[in-house]
Amino acid sequence: MPIKALHQFPRSFLWGCSTAAHQVEGQNVNDWWRWEQTPGHIYQNQKCGDACEWWKGRYLEDFDRAAEMNNNAQRFSIEWSRIEPEPGKWDSYALERYRDMLNALHERGMRPMVTLHHFTNPLWVDDHKGWLWDEMPQHFARFARKVVEALGDLCTLWCTINEPLVYATQGFSFGKWPPGIKDRNAVQRVTINMLRGHAAAYHAIKDIQPESEVGFAAHFISFKAHAPTFMHGGAVWLVNRAFNQAFILAIKDGVVRVPGSRAVPVPEARNSVDWIGLQYYQQYHVGFSPFAPASFFIREHKPNGVPTGPGNWGGLAPEAIYDHIRWLWTTLQKPIYITESGVPDPDDTIRPGYLSKTVRAVWRAVNFNIPVRGFFFWSLMDNFEWSEGYDPRFSFGLYKTNFQTQERTPRQSARLYREICGLNGLSAQTVNRFAPDVLSDLFPGEAGQASVTLKPHGRG
Ligand code: BGC
Repeated sequence: MPIKALHQFPRSFLWGCSTAAHQVEGQNVNDWWRWEQTPGHIYQNQKCGDACEWWKGRYLEDFDRAAEMNNNAQRFSIEWSRIEPEPGKWDSYALERYRDMLNALHERGMRPMVTLHHFTNPLWVDDHKGWLWDEMPQHFARFARKVVEALGDLCTLWCTINEPLVYATQGFSFGKWPPGIKDRNAVQRVTINMLRGHAAAYHAIKDIQPESEVGFAAHFISFKAHAPTFMHGGAVWLVNRAFNQAFILAIKDGVVRVPGSRAVPVPEARNSVDWIGLQYYQQYHVGFSPFAPASFFIREHKPNGVPTGPGNWGGLAPEAIYDHIRWLWTTLQKPIYITESGVPDPDDTIRPGYLSKTVRAVWRAVNFNIPVRGFFFWSLMDNFEWSEGYDPRFSFGLYKTNFQTQERTPRQSARLYREICGLNGLSAQTVNRFAPDVLSDLFPGEAGQASVTLKPHGRG
């Protein structure tokens, strides 16, 4: 089939989806299980329950779906509470099941990326208020060591912690996630403990498996000034520094500097990544407000001028991922994986354009010689969305999940992603078919025009 203009990716590029243990496995007994026992914590007081039944073995058919989408990689997380249900007591059955998952990926030609911590903690950790506990770094490093000893022959790509700042702010500033604390000082302590934990795990893994590639996943929000004033501009600078940049800069310098707090040296964190994971979803307008002393006089607004997601989701501005990639590269000079990108969209009306625009922005970065090594879409199928539970408005899957029957149905975006991964690139033809409304943006001059016919290189 002739292909018109094609945004081609490098041959070794990884294409996959991301999932997290608690969101797909079902029947985990951890801090989120404890949290859901209290009414009001989760949408309609729902329980996570069986989730997507991965622990019952349904990961096999979902990995088949990923393989059918031409994915050559998959990012998933392992559940600490299963592997170490009590401190220092290891569950070999759980480790064996994770070996099965890793083997299943290899059998399907997919490279695994394993996340060690994706928001959830064992109950014995929750008893000490999660990462507020100053002993966490050593416990986490011991866990990392155990896992890499048990699974290292099947995995070399490790993500220590998912989104430290999201965990810290949701659980310790907004109090919306376990352990439900609202205390600004706690956020700082949690962040430092997570940085120490990441660094300790990084060094532990590299000791055992020097050839491994270890990083962590950082969440980026696009902050824009609510209006073009000096005060609003200052608010943007402040949240950007505190939320998007502080953890990354601490990896660069070995010092945590959060505006308004004293600098804390964490020398072991310096340079403790082989790569960095970038996760990007939404944009907020922020501004100074004299009525918001609890949040440093900063208020968040949904943006005008771009479509917005459900609830407090914020604005959808996929192309802005480019700015974050660029900032990360200029700051750290480490290879980048896009470890998550996605959009809550049950009807799949926004997702095809969103995905196409994101892939185009990543391609642009690659073309400026920024070493972006892979892209993992959030998510393979609809799953348990934390406080939003199974609220259908927060459906992120390429596949729709029917949680009554466990049936999966591909959305149009699954077909789109299959083409992108199969071509190892984004073609005008694909965009024309799946997201014609963004064609002229992504391929200017291409809409309805004859153009050069290119042969795709494929993945090699
Ligand atoms: C998290 C996922 C979550 C997704 C959508 C990311 O920040 O890592 O666990 O489901 O956002 O909200």
